[in-house]
Amino acid sequence: MERSDYAVWRHRDLRVFYRPELDGGGSTIAGPFVQFVRRRATRTYRVAYEWCAGPAFIGFTLLAEGVCDQLCLSDVNPAAGDCLARTVDANGFSGRVSWYTGDNLDALPGDARFDLVVANPPNFSALNPRHPRYELYRDDLRPNDPDWRLHRGFYAGIGAHLRAGAVLHISEVEPHRDRVFIPRSEAEPYDVRPRPAIDDFVDMIAAGGLRYVDSVPYFAGADGAELFVMTSRSPS
Ligand SMILES: C[S@@+](CC[C@H](N)C(=O)[O-])C[C@H]1O[C@@H](n2cnc3c(N)ncnc32)[C@H](O)[C@@H]1O
Repeated sequence: MERSDYAVWRHRDLRVFYRPELDGGGSTIAGPFVQFVRRRATRTYRVAYEWCAGPAFIGFTLLAEGVCDQLCLSDVNPAAGDCLARTVDANGFSGRVSWYTGDNLDALPGDARFDLVVANPPNFSALNPRHPRYELYRDDLRPNDPDWRLHRGFYAGIGAHLRAGAVLHISEVEPHRDRVFIPRSEAEPYDVRPRPAIDDFVDMIAAGGLRYVDSVPYFAGADGAELFVMTSRSPS
């Protein structure tokens, strides 16, 4: 693929290279998400990690805005790697960014340690076969986390990679609902959860030895879905 085949997302002087099929909404939410992280930050974070990073719109914005000194990224999709390399090059981030390809936290070196974790992970646990968008997204890596397998593995394992008092900010879609309607006017739910996602997440956070802090709305999607940042912390 030629350089011209990459799309470029801009945030002030930052240029993030991506392909549309790798954008899981990060190009839309990175601005408000990072604003939220900045409002909550009481210090510059030494190392930030973006889980399920894709092209890393969020992570690179954190780095460009000086919210963190170093950035670590991972995703299961190897196609993201080319985009990340170009973004590092184009913005002079060499030596400040590391990235890994693989399933969930297995991608990370065992000795990786973070002060801040952010993510816009797959947000839906059971896509409804009767929803009009089902065929389009059933095999897409971006929305799907069947039975929250990925979230469960993340909260079970991330504690081993956290420094004391580390902060986790994870973007979730309508976590307080068991049915998510996209768009709101659609009669069939898009995601059919056995219970409100937040109940599962809070259990996972506690089981992982972390402390749940809160869940705060930060962005209203064009299709009517409300996005929340779910915050938790490692013990100080
Ligand atoms: C909603 S998209 C978000 C992508 C990007 N962070 C953004 O904001 O646009 C979710 C991402 O999770 C990744 N993903 C899905 N399953 C995964 C797994 N088992 N391990 C690691 N990453 C995974 C997908 O490849 C995709 O990049």
